[in-house]
Formats: sequence, structure tokens, C-alpha cells
Amino acid sequence: MKTKVIVARPIFEETLVRLREHFDVTDNQADIAWTKASWAQALSQHAGALTTGSDPVDAEVLKACPSLKAVANMAVGFNNFDVPALTAQGVQASNTPDVLTETTADFGFALLMATARRMAESEHYLRRGEWTQWRYDMFAGAEVHGSTIGILGMGRIGQGIARRAAHGFGMKVIYHNRSRLSAESEAECKATYVSKDELLKTADHVMLVVPYSAASHHTIGAAELAQMKPTATLINIARGGIVDDAALALALHNKQIAAAGLDVFEGEPKVHPDLLTVPNVVLTPHIASASIPTRLAMANLAADNLISYFTQGKSVTPLNTVTA
Ligand code: DGY
Repeated sequence: MKTKVIVARPIFEETLVRLREHFDVTDNQADIAWTKASWAQALSQHAGALTTGSDPVDAEVLKACPSLKAVANMAVGFNNFDVPALTAQGVQASNTPDVLTETTADFGFALLMATARRMAESEHYLRRGEWTQWRYDMFAGAEVHGSTIGILGMGRIGQGIARRAAHGFGMKVIYHNRSRLSAESEAECKATYVSKDELLKTADHVMLVVPYSAASHHTIGAAELAQMKPTATLINIARGGIVDDAALALALHNKQIAAAGLDVFEGEPKVHPDLLTVPNVVLTPHIASASIPTRLAMANLAADNLISYFTQGKSVTPLNTVTA
């Protein structure tokens, strides 16, 4: 009898075909929305799961799933997992690093460009039929090339953004991270390590790429926004909850900072209502890694993580160590 595996959300047909070669697969191609209770109930019937960042596997869910052996997140972020609880229960957890680095860095840069150069705001204006004549200051925004980008969180994606900024746009790159990069990596990214305070005070564009944890909750709140330049832009491609969205909406409304670009939100898919009414913010629905080749690579790596765990006792890109 094949091992039972559930795929929490709709996925590429070819990934399902691959999984079905090894497992008895329950799919969700119908895109049925889970409640936490219905998800825990469905998960409890399976030994493995391919999840997304929206599917919680925390201590409460795990309690209902004593037969669960492996969960493979189709995301590099894994704040939907309680990794210590998974390890304690002997469940292999994995994520999808590397395959999305460059695509996500592309998007971070696109969001920075769109925000600084007011692309969304000006497009809405044009669609509303309000464009009647050229004006010298019409949607004049901030400069990107030659300006200073401050990157908070300098992992793989942060470094990808730094390379684009330094080599493609001649920007000065400053960064802050829990640990400093090697001299070689700093040279490759042309990046200078600074304190968080200095970064907030001096960057023209602040890019957030820190992973979410209790420690990084509201890394950017009212106090940090007050430190930023009034001409600065803030970009969040990290996770909802890194920014205090209510404080940000107020700062944007009061023009305390010039603009923001947000791909992630506290409590998404809900978006703070005040963010929907300020014009100087570009909002996208958590799509930074969404190119078709990258999403396919993420899905297939997550599938490989399950296949590898159940055939060889260890996932390809594991987040914890367990004995099979
Ligand atoms: C990730 O991989 O963490 C992206 O945010 C997609 O969920």
C-alpha cells in the first residue's frame, strides 16, 4: 500500500503526476479553503504533506496528527511551521531555498522601481481618464540609480537585491543583518555593514528581507518609520508582521515617508483597510516568487523533499533532523 500524502493547495499537474508515482495522493485542485480544524482533520489522515506558507503546522495541529512523518513547505519561509514541535514529534520538515532567490530578488527590485517611480499611482490616474496634459512635476518620484539602498536582512535574497542595486543601478548598498557577511560576499555585493539605526536614517530606499519570527515581529514600527527620511521608500517582500501595517498606513498618510511597496501583509490575505486608501503605496498579493519556472521548481523541490524522505529517510533541503 502506498504512503498517503496530502497536497494542501492547488499545484502543477506535473508535480501531482510525480507525487502519484510514489504516493497515494489527496490533492486540492478544487481549491477548497481550509479552516484550521478541517486542515488538521485532513492532515491527520496522511503521513506526508506538501504545504504552502498559508497552511499552519503548529503544535495544536500536530497534536491531532500522530501519524504525520514529513511536511514539505513550498516556500523558503517557514513561519507557518513550529519546527521545534515538529522535531519533538519526529516529523521531517523541509522548505524550498535557492530555487526562488533570483526571481524574488527581481521582484523586490521591480517593487522598488514601481514604488519610487510611482507607477501604480500614475497608472490608476491614466485609467481614470484624468490625464489631460503634460506637467513638469506629474508623478515625479524618487531617484533609484545612484541612490542609497538599505537592505535589512542579508541572506540569499538580500544579496541578490544588493547585486542588482550595486552592479545594475550604481547604487550605494548598506545593509544590516544578524551576522555580518564575509569580506568576499561584501565585496561581491559592494555592500557596507551598518547599524539598523544608521540604515534607517541614511537609506533612500529601505528593503526588508528578514525572516519572520517572534523576534522580528514589528521590526519596522512607528519609531523606526520616524527615523527614516521623509523622501524614503520602504519595500517589504519578507513577511507580514515584520512591519506594523497600521503604523505604516499612518506614516504614509502623514507623508512621514514618501512611499511604500508591499508584497506581504499582517494577517494576509486581509490587508489593513487604511493601506487601501493611501495613494502612495504599491500593493501586490504575495507574488515575489511567482514566475512560472520558479513556482514549478519550488513545487518540484517540495515534492522531491517528500519523495526523498519516504524513500531515503531524509529530505533534500531539510529544516530539522529526525530519525526515520
Ligand atoms: C517564500 O518562499 O517564502 C515566499 O514568500 C512564498 O511563500
